[in-house]
Amino acid sequence: MAPSAEVPSATVPVVGPATRADFDRIRELTVGVYRDEELASTQYLAELGDVEGRAGRSQLLVARLDGRVVGSVALVLDGDFGEVTAGPAEAAFRMLVVDPAARGAGVGELLVTTCLDRARAAGKASMVLSTDPRMTAAHRLYERLGFRRLPGRDWSPVPGVDLLVYALGL
Ligand SMILES: CC(C)(COP(=O)(O)OP(=O)(O)OC[C@H]1O[C@@H](n2cnc3c(N)ncnc32)[C@H](O)[C@@H]1OP(=O)(O)O)[C@@H](O)C(=O)NCCC(=O)NCCS
Repeated sequence: MAPSAEVPSATVPVVGPATRADFDRIRELTVGVYRDEELASTQYLAELGDVEGRAGRSQLLVARLDGRVVGSVALVLDGDFGEVTAGPAEAAFRMLVVDPAARGAGVGELLVTTCLDRARAAGKASMVLSTDPRMTAAHRLYERLGFRRLPGRDWSPVPGVDLLVYALGL
């Protein structure tokens, strides 16, 4: 029998560009998670809250589940917002977050693989990112997708914050 339009389809996350209408939710989600999980300084929380600012310097992507934003990431294909990018052949992503209530279902992986696909389509040779040592779930995700540590490029944005750099060839 052909599927009826009344039968709800399975809930699957969908990743696409954020619109201005998503900015408040992205701010709430990103600042809320980084604050509650103690992943950011007060200064960095202010930067995480500047969604308008990063929308102008990156491709802001969101993951929706049943239409609700449950994740976000900023994909950087050029410019200094990448922080750790060493030249035009490198892309970066930053400020990856998934709502705790939606974790463990592949939303984070879909956000990252969408960044990889878009960077590859833009002709980039590699994806780089820096991450806090406490973000262990993220590190498992990166390693599962083939990212490797680049210890020679680890760096400290401010004294006492020591970030790890990961990279993946595209
Ligand atoms: C890192 C983060 C984005 C991962 O989000 P997520 O949506 O839970 O990621 P995934 O679902 O793709 O993967 C998480 C786990 O679920 C598992 N999983 C994925 N799909 C699954 C499925 N369909 N069924 C069962 N398990 C599944 C994965 O194998 C993974 O397991 P592991 O952690 O034991 O390795 C999220 O934990 C987060 O927001 N952390 C705080 C912010 C942060 O650290 N950001 C990184 C910045 S560098």
